[in-house]
Amino acid sequence: VRADELWEEGTRILSGAGIPRPRWESLLLLTRASSLSRERVLAHPETEVEEKAQALFRVWVRRRAGREPLAYVLGEAEFMSRPFLVTPACLIPRPETELLVEASQEFLASRAFSGGRVADVGTGSGVIAVSLALSFPSLVVYATDLSPEALEVARQNARLHGVEERIIFLAGDLLEALPSFLRRSLLLLVSNPPYVREGEWESLPPEVRREPREALVAGPRGTEVIERLVFGAREFLLPGGMLALEIGLRQGPTVRSFLRRAGYSRWEVRRDHAGRERVVLAWL
Ligand SMILES: C[S@@+](CC[C@H](N)C(=O)[O-])C[C@H]1O[C@@H](n2cnc3c(N)ncnc32)[C@H](O)[C@@H]1O
Repeated sequence: VRADELWEEGTRILSGAGIPRPRWESLLLLTRASSLSRERVLAHPETEVEEKAQALFRVWVRRRAGREPLAYVLGEAEFMSRPFLVTPACLIPRPETELLVEASQEFLASRAFSGGRVADVGTGSGVIAVSLALSFPSLVVYATDLSPEALEVARQNARLHGVEERIIFLAGDLLEALPSFLRRSLLLLVSNPPYVREGEWESLPPEVRREPREALVAGPRGTEVIERLVFGAREFLLPGGMLALEIGLRQGPTVRSFLRRAGYSRWEVRRDHAGRERVVLAWL
């Protein structure tokens, strides 16, 4: 079959399934399944696609038409301009989480000694832990998650990027996963925790509901996990250490009240490009 015919076939199926950019996604799936470049498909639409690639392309189009997220179909997502493996066992990294990583990088870079220990709690695919380990070659990262399957994906990503020797993977419930010798010794405790309200789950797009519910939903209020982290982080941070959290839309005021009650001396809230509060940084 010719490349343009397959592209068209995929576009038709994806469009019928209500996928927003069917032509673009169909071409992406075709080039990944066939290892033909976009330029090749556009300049030589008559190129014959091998049978194996055709079969793979059709399986992928069917999965995507069933509203499986594109990243799960491809097994890959981009974060901080780097490729990361993803499976349905972990959350797909979001662009807004790059704000959290950038704020963390700024803080670590501002310390004269940028080595030391940091923790990424709820590491998922490991994007935060791996990005920080790559930026600071003498940093040791403790990456935790409740899900052993997600930790396995994180471990593979650490290996893929050559930083597995400086990331320690720990399974467990939030800060309980951290060994007690880390008390008062973390320079940075960073987390993109679940912060969706239970009642919100049903109204999320079908693709989002294919991601692990535990990675997104925190409880009836949505701020339950953030609250535990704000209070629990105190005993793990070094004096002058920083807590960095991603938060949900409109959670800023609640999170500020947690910080006040937990006795942090100073905090800063960062906004995304749309002006929404998304990242909270706090110091003891
Ligand atoms: C929003 S995802 C973030 C994943 C990844 N850090 C990222 O930014 O893409 C939250 C992660 O926290 C984990 N998680 C949820 N509840 C947890 C708990 N009580 N203890 C440890 N990890 C938890 C989930 O398994 C999930 O991987």
